[in-house]
Amino acid sequence: MKDIKTFHYAALDRANHFIEKYGNRINERYRPYYHLAAVTGWINDPNGFGWYNGKIHQFYQYNPYGSVWGPMHWGHAVSEDMVKWENLPVALAPSEPYDDDSGCFSGSSIVAGSKFCLMYTGMGKDKLSRQCAAISEDGVNFYKYENNPVISPDELPACMSAEDTRDPFIYEHNGKYYCLLGTKSGKFGNIAMFRSDDIKKWEFVGLAFDESQRGYVSEGVCECPSLANLGGKEVLIYSPQFMPSNGSKFRNIHSSVYIVGGFNYETGAFTGGEIRDIDEGFDFYAPQVTQLPDGRTVMTAWMQMWDRNIPTAQDGWSGEMILTRQIDLEDGKLVQRPVRELEKYRRDEQTAEDMTLYNEVRDIEAFKGDCSEIVFTLKKGDANRAGIEFFKGPSHRTYLYYHAHSGRIVLDRVRSGIDIRGAEHEEIYWKRSVAAPEGEYINFRILLDNTSAEIFIGNGQSVMTANVYADESDEGVAFFADGGTAGIIGAKKYTIKI
Ligand code: FRU
Repeated sequence: MKDIKTFHYAALDRANHFIEKYGNRINERYRPYYHLAAVTGWINDPNGFGWYNGKIHQFYQYNPYGSVWGPMHWGHAVSEDMVKWENLPVALAPSEPYDDDSGCFSGSSIVAGSKFCLMYTGMGKDKLSRQCAAISEDGVNFYKYENNPVISPDELPACMSAEDTRDPFIYEHNGKYYCLLGTKSGKFGNIAMFRSDDIKKWEFVGLAFDESQRGYVSEGVCECPSLANLGGKEVLIYSPQFMPSNGSKFRNIHSSVYIVGGFNYETGAFTGGEIRDIDEGFDFYAPQVTQLPDGRTVMTAWMQMWDRNIPTAQDGWSGEMILTRQIDLEDGKLVQRPVRELEKYRRDEQTAEDMTLYNEVRDIEAFKGDCSEIVFTLKKGDANRAGIEFFKGPSHRTYLYYHAHSGRIVLDRVRSGIDIRGAEHEEIYWKRSVAAPEGEYINFRILLDNTSAEIFIGNGQSVMTANVYADESDEGVAFFADGGTAGIIGAKKYTIKI
C-alpha cells in the first residue's frame, strides 16, 4: 500500500507541477467566465459528482499535458453553490499497471461512512477495462485501493466485453451497493448491474436491456450511466455512442438520453418508457446526476462533443461543463432548470419594453453582452419566424427562433462564427430544433458565457446547448420577426458576475 501511495503521488505531483508552471500560458479569448473549465489542458466527462463534507465535488476527465485527449487523470473542483467553482489539485493520475496506459477513465463517487470513495475504470496496456476504487478522508487527497481492480476482466460474464466495460456509477439501494457499467454485449451497447456489500467485492446481477429493447441502444457503448430517483421512479441516464437518428431524435453525433422506469434488482433488467434526448442542442455529453442533502437532484455534463473540431485547442485548453441544472419529472418527462443559486450572481438588470415586431430586426443596445442571462416570452403571432439573435456582430450572429411552418424552435449556428464540424452523421450540421410548446406564448431563458449558450425553453421541458465561437466583440442581441408579426414580452437581461 505504501508503494502504491508513493507512485500515485509522484504522478500527481508531476501533473500539479505542470499545471502550476504552464497554467498561465493559455490564451483566454474563448474562456468561460462562470462555467467550470480546467486551468489548462483537455477535459471531457464530469466524474464523481457528489456532496462530501459540506461541498459539491465535481471531478473531470483530464489531460493536463495538452489540449487534446490523452492519458486520463481526474481533475477536481469544488463549490459551495454549484456556480462558483474552485479547482483543486488533480485527484487521480495514471500510475499503476491497471491504469497506466489510457489512464483513469470515467466514474462516480459515494460517501461511505466518513470516507469519500471514487470508482473509476483503469485502462492499462493490455487495453482491458478494470474497475477500480480510490479513497479519501479529507476530500482532497485520494489514494488508490491496494487490491485494485475491484472488478477485473476475468470476473465479467461472457456477455460483456472485456475491452469496452467502463464508467461505473455507484449508488446504494436497500442496504447494498450497486454499480452500473456502460458496456457492449455482442454487437450492441448495454448497461450492466453489479452488487456489493463493501465496494471491494462485486457480483454481476444482469444486463439492463434485452433483445426486445434494441431501440434503447446503439452499436457503440452505452457510456456513462447515471441514475436519478425522481417522483418515485428511477430515471436512467446514459450516453449511447453513435445512436442512430430517428426522426427529430438523436440528431447529435453521440446522444445523451434518459428513460423513466425502474430496475429489477434481482435480474438487473430495466423496464421503462420512451427513450428521449436530454439536451437537443449540439454540445452536451456524459451527464451525471447526484442528490443534494436538501433533496434536489442536480445534473452536470460536458459542454462539448466528441469527433468535432474544438477551436480552443489552439489556445491551450479544451472543454468545459454546463451550469449545474436541477432536474425534476413533470408529466413523466425531465425538466431542467439552472440551479437557483445562479440568481444571486445576477447584476445590472436591464428591461426591454414589450414590443410588437413586424418584419423587423430590433437591436437592443442594453442587452449587449457575452456573460449574461436573458429571459423573455415570445408571443407567436402570425410571423413565420420570430425570436432572438445573440453573439451578434457585423458578420456573425446565432439565431434562435420559433418557426411557424414546422411548429418547432430552431437553433441555427450557420452564421455563428468558426465552423464547428466533424464526424457528423446528420445532414444539417449547423441546425437543431425541438417541438415548440403548445399555445401562443413561449418562455425562453438563455445563459450566455463568452463561447456558449444554454437555452431553456418553456419551463425547462426542452434545453438546447451550444458552443459558439464568434469574434470577441460580437456581443449584440436583437429580437426579430419575419413573414408577419410577433411579440416580445417581459424581456430582461442580467449580467452574471462571479
Ligand atoms: C465518454 C468516455 C467514457 C470514458 C471517457 C474517457 O465521453 O468515452 O466512456 O470513460 O470518455 O475519457
